[in-house]
Amino acid sequence: MDIDGIDPRGIPRHVACVMDGNGRWAARQGLPRTDGHAAGEEALLDTVEGALDLGITWLTVYAFSTENWRRPADEVRYLMQFNESLLTRRRDELHERGVRMRFLGRRDWRVPERVLQRMEESIALTANNKVMTLNIAFNYGGRAEIVDAVKAIVSSGVPAERVDERMIRRHLYDPDMPDPDLMVRTSGEYRISNYLLWELAYSELVFTDVLWPDFRREDLFEAVREYQRRERRFGGVESQA
Ligand code: IPE
Ligand code: IPE
Ligand code: MG
Repeated sequence: MDIDGIDPRGIPRHVACVMDGNGRWAARQGLPRTDGHAAGEEALLDTVEGALDLGITWLTVYAFSTENWRRPADEVRYLMQFNESLLTRRRDELHERGVRMRFLGRRDWRVPERVLQRMEESIALTANNKVMTLNIAFNYGGRAEIVDAVKAIVSSGVPAERVDERMIRRHLYDPDMPDPDLMVRTSGEYRISNYLLWELAYSELVFTDVLWPDFRREDLFEAVREYQRRERRFGGVESQA
């Protein structure tokens, strides 16, 4: 495995991926879009392995957005069933690798009960794992997350003058989650698509033309090399040599 050129002291703590391009991958081979989603499973598992190779401790992947309900009913149904089966088939091996699984998103009535059950089981099974946290953003929207945080704050009766950034952060879906250092989006689209709007404020963004089903750990390594060439300033000035 080639992780040449990666500085082990500069590994991003948290990498967030937008797994995009499944439909186009399938269309290029004359297959139905759903075959592209199925082919994305191997990409996900290889990316998890790559993250483990590098010592990344948080990996968040965008699996289904609050806007993806707009897709044809057949595709939505497929995605629900596919994600349920993926959790069932893969959670033991993720557990063995020391991966703690969590989910970000609204657990609302639109998510089938069986999917919610698999999520709860996966969380319970892997709760004490320490090697890496795999967050699956499912029925996730960045705006919805902020709305949900504001609702929770207002309903707790906090006076307006006590609301600050720390308080909002504490009411996001996973208050323990560090902000992503690096966000990688596949398929040549240069947008955020309502992903982690609060958390990505100072993340480095890397875009690749690779379609998600073709993405492998080597592509993750390449994104990390690109990340390590960037200089993060967080609004300050260039660090002095
Ligand atoms: C990403 O691939 C997977 C989901 C959004 C669930 P797409 O299905 O968006 O694939 P493209 O962008 O249409 O190629
Ligand atoms: C973002 O991809 C959501 C996921 C990868 C789950 P989309 O394909 O839904 O985003 P747009 O529609 O191209 O912005
Ligand atoms: Mg897409």
